Amino acid sequence: MFKITVAGTGYVGLVAGVCFAEVGHQVTCVDIDDNKVALMKSGISPIYEAGLEELMQKNYEAGRINYTTDYQSAYREADAIFIGVGTPELPDGSANLSYIATVARQIAESVEKDCLVVVKSTVPVGTNDKVEQFIQDFLIHDVKVEVASNPEFLAQGSAVQDTLHAERIIIGTESKWAEEMLMQIYQPFHLPIVSVNRRSAEMIKYASNDFLALKISYMNDIANLCELVGADIQDVARGMSFDDRIGNKFLNAGIGYGGSCFPKDTKALAYIARQHGYELKTVKAAIDVNTEQKTLLFRKARKRLITFNGLKVAVLGLTFKPGTDDLREAASLENIPLLLEQGADIYAYDPVGATNFAKLYPVGKHGAGQLSYVDDIEQALQGANVCFVFTEWGEVKELSPETYQKLMRTPLVFDGRNIYNVALMQEAGVEYHSVGRQA
Ligand code: UGA
Repeated sequence: MFKITVAGTGYVGLVAGVCFAEVGHQVTCVDIDDNKVALMKSGISPIYEAGLEELMQKNYEAGRINYTTDYQSAYREADAIFIGVGTPELPDGSANLSYIATVARQIAESVEKDCLVVVKSTVPVGTNDKVEQFIQDFLIHDVKVEVASNPEFLAQGSAVQDTLHAERIIIGTESKWAEEMLMQIYQPFHLPIVSVNRRSAEMIKYASNDFLALKISYMNDIANLCELVGADIQDVARGMSFDDRIGNKFLNAGIGYGGSCFPKDTKALAYIARQHGYELKTVKAAIDVNTEQKTLLFRKARKRLITFNGLKVAVLGLTFKPGTDDLREAASLENIPLLLEQGADIYAYDPVGATNFAKLYPVGKHGAGQLSYVDDIEQALQGANVCFVFTEWGEVKELSPETYQKLMRTPLVFDGRNIYNVALMQEAGVEYHSVGRQA
């Protein structure tokens, strides 16, 4: 078992740290935020993620995981340091590497024994060569430090399961020493390991995410055409899914992909390509389709209603997907400001995302519109003129057509996630609009 330090306690870092502890390694998680560290020590997770707190508490009590702001001692004693800090998008679409650089410098100035630095954060191809050089430049003690790439494939909402039961571990190394050490660290997970060079590992991450984004945008493009030609995207997807080469996942059409990864990683790869004088046409198409798809429901509803002025608008779901409180690049963030601008009186429901949304858009007047948050779905639907579904939360999926019919003043529903049966909605007297299906 190894002494592992994890830098950064966001989704990637914290989940990795907890899972390393779970398989028996001795883990220290480093963060710059004192409050966050105190919270984690008391077993509270700074992120909403199913199953994470239980594992944090269990491994903390067992003495396998600790949290600290004292990065110097945490790095000094580590066999391996995993970096899981953010690489947010800069205005030009490139990745901001300043957090990685800060950690790399701190590592260089702290380590006193040979150690492997493993970058989990998504970074442009070639970055880890630079990180290694950067560490060498600032190294104080005469020790061996190598950098490896180990991209992360977890999805929010299922992060712990995705890590403990990953479909593959990608390791990108430039020496036998680094490769063997990473193999040993991951050995207790009993998962398939794909060992490649550092640049290929970095590329695998972008290529995988962008392929999935492309798959979604392709289905959204086809869905829009389905509407025009009288086909049903769900039937089309089902028919396609029997072909193993296509697969049966990530074929759901809707209001586009959000989250912290696909939007950022598509733009970052397009940027990397441009830097090399190459235009990545497929990825660019995925980005363009997604940008338009985000406001599809608003445009459909505006066509149907002419104006939202003075209408009670129910919004079900704010987060970019269920199982998370994350709002990054969520369709709600595009549509709600447009609705408010047009004078809508919005009642928004989300089981966990409302608090974060209210930080950006507080309760009250916004331009011509009014925004309120409600704790239950019925309150949102009661007397509403129109309802938008932006996130497919379980409790929203379970609603019966009759509930809409009974509670709303005019049962008019725009569903961005295709969660209801068209015929059943129509039979119940609900005017139902979704994506890629016949109204
Ligand atoms: C994504 C990838 O799925 C992970 O494999 C990857 O590790 C992660 O990014 C990352 O790079 O860190 P995540 O962003 O958490 O994970 O969420 P997904 O479940 O992939 O969903 C992304 C977006 O695509 C959501 O808005 C979702 O609603 C949308 N989506 C997904 C569709 O519109 N249709 C689908 O069929 C699937």
